[in-house]
Amino acid sequence: MRESGLFDYGNGIIRDEAVLLETFIPRRLFHREGQLEALASCLRPVVKGRRPRNAFLYGPPGTGKTAMCLYVFRELSKYTGMAKPIYVNCWKSPTVHSMLCELVASLKRFVHRREPVKELLLRFKAELKEGVLVIVALDEIDQLRDQRILYDLLRNGCGLVCIANDEKALMNLDPRIRSSLQVEEIAFPAYRDWELFDILWDRAKLALMPDTIERRQVRKIASFSGDDARVGLEIMRRAALLAEDEGKERIEDKHIKRA
Ligand SMILES: Nc1ncnc2c1ncn2[C@@H]1O[C@H](COP(=O)(O)OP(=O)(O)O)[C@@H](O)[C@H]1O
Ligand SMILES: [Mg+2]
Repeated sequence: MRESGLFDYGNGIIRDEAVLLETFIPRRLFHREGQLEALASCLRPVVKGRRPRNAFLYGPPGTGKTAMCLYVFRELSKYTGMAKPIYVNCWKSPTVHSMLCELVASLKRFVHRREPVKELLLRFKAELKEGVLVIVALDEIDQLRDQRILYDLLRNGCGLVCIANDEKALMNLDPRIRSSLQVEEIAFPAYRDWELFDILWDRAKLALMPDTIERRQVRKIASFSGDDARVGLEIMRRAALLAEDEGKERIEDKHIKRA
């Protein structure tokens, strides 16, 4: 039986659900200092108007590759207007046409998506001539169906941040592309439980009301996550929703088990 009114949530457990969703860019990246420095040093030349070095981030799911890329892109944009970082997910945009639509739209140009590839390419090149250094992140690059876009990006002086789960993802590229794509490889190993704990605990403090979850419970979630931060955050979100649905003041162990 609920203790309060039919539609009362009590004080609630979740303060800000968005913080637990994948689209949220963390305020801090835990246990990724080496990778952060490596990626930043690839992009640092743009501050002096020079071409960045290309990077390749790889590692199992939920190891912070996408989060790192978005975090660094955001910091770079805050620091300088010399570069235009653009993030594209190849799973959503696997063809030259869909990718160019994303790129041109990110450069604040209108696209109705019916333009032919040639026209999109012209518009994209026109923007590059304006002197902006464009850095394109290609997340889930193994999903890229059409590699011609890589030619176009490299030939036009774009910097690339390639991201994949599989260390060998770039081996399948056309050898001609591979030879012009010199990448600095940055490995993202799976998290240990205590590392996951730090990530989840920090996120809990932002996402949940005070004293609604215990450290011990977050440790348990970390151990259930199979080394994947995304899974851990999703367990935490579901447990919080279950507790909230029952009108509880705090998350209980049974909510975590069920989540
Ligand atoms: N080191 C970290 N610090 C803070 N949050 C992290 C960290 N690593 C991953 N996350 C969070 O975990 C979730 C999954 O990470 P994500 O970057 O999507 O993994 P990947 O792209 O490697 O599959 C995201 O919500 C992300 O914000
Ligand atoms: Mg990812």
